[in-house]
Amino acid sequence: MPSRVSEILESELYTKENLVTLLNAGTEDSELIFQKAAEIKEKFVGNKVFFRGLIELSNICSKNCYYCGIRRGNRNPVRYVVTEPEVLEAARYAFDNGFGSIVMQSGERIDKRFIAYVETLLKKIKTLSGDRLGITLSMGEQTEETYRRWFEAGAHRYLLRIETSNRELYYKIHPQDARHDYDQRLEALSLLRKVGYNVGSGVMIGLPFQTSEDLAEDLQFFKEHDIDMAGMGPYIEHAETPLYKHRDLLMPKEDRLLLSLKMVALLRITMKDVNIAATTAMQTLAKDGREKALRAGANIIMPNLTPLKYREGYLLYENKPGTNEQVEDSIRNLENQIHSAGCMVGYGEWGDSRHFSKRQSESQI
Ligand code: 5AD
Ligand code: SF4
Repeated sequence: MPSRVSEILESELYTKENLVTLLNAGTEDSELIFQKAAEIKEKFVGNKVFFRGLIELSNICSKNCYYCGIRRGNRNPVRYVVTEPEVLEAARYAFDNGFGSIVMQSGERIDKRFIAYVETLLKKIKTLSGDRLGITLSMGEQTEETYRRWFEAGAHRYLLRIETSNRELYYKIHPQDARHDYDQRLEALSLLRKVGYNVGSGVMIGLPFQTSEDLAEDLQFFKEHDIDMAGMGPYIEHAETPLYKHRDLLMPKEDRLLLSLKMVALLRITMKDVNIAATTAMQTLAKDGREKALRAGANIIMPNLTPLKYREGYLLYENKPGTNEQVEDSIRNLENQIHSAGCMVGYGEWGDSRHFSKRQSESQI
């Protein structure tokens, strides 16, 4: 007799209730979900994996999210900003090695000096690559004017995770104040769309208090907001954060990884042609976590190009891998993982989300 999971996959009816059933599937049934996701990935995005060289520009952050190791309230990390020559060197490395794009990520800062610094970097990176290196930003909530300035300076994709689409859960994992406002975060996502970015979002998986219903709604949220890209990964506790006190509520790490892989697969199945990252947090829970994510439907990998001396400073969660790994080694490892997942690297291409290109061409008809 076919299982309920195979019936749902066959029917392609992804209601909230069905998504919950799929999210609760055991290890064996999960393989069916991964297979379906692999078929859809092959058909809609192919087997190319795109590299985005990641530069963790600064760990200075004005926010105080309860889960994050670099929150303002944590006095332990040594705060840093990567210097301009170092950023340009990393960008040149990405360009010379055929990465189509880079991602610049940082803690959230809204001061003029930082905004201008990012703008200068964007212009210089565009110049050094003859306009050929694509640039994604991940710098939190900013004003429309800032988003526009950075877009005009050369960024064309932006990642802003909603973290959870459940408003109540959002306020359990963030302070309740004007700097951590759920509606403002939603508004920021629509501003990014309005300015013209490829818009990415994502959630953490396996948070304390989070249910399968919440995750099913997260998948529906991505669809409703018609996102172009996603970065999702397991929540990983950090002892120097307030959320650590709820660690006894967490599911075991293997289960958190399996659930994260199911989220990747279900997003691939429900949205088909979006770009999905195999995130570092997946690799934290298992050595081959990113390879597993590629098999489950992901098609983007972000090799870390942050200068090694800063890496210890960007510990969002515990046991984050790669803090002392040379870039060359990490890329060789990645290539091996990609090949063993039956994929190839799309060198020298931007690898923009097909979802975005499709929406653009449809809106011009
Ligand atoms: N575990 C997993 N992911 C985390 N992030 C921050 N802290 C953690 C954590 N403890 C993620 C958030 C944020 C991104 C930059 O890192 O989703 O958007
Ligand atoms: Fe800052 Fe982002 Fe960490 Fe929140 S998750 S404290 S905004 S770096």
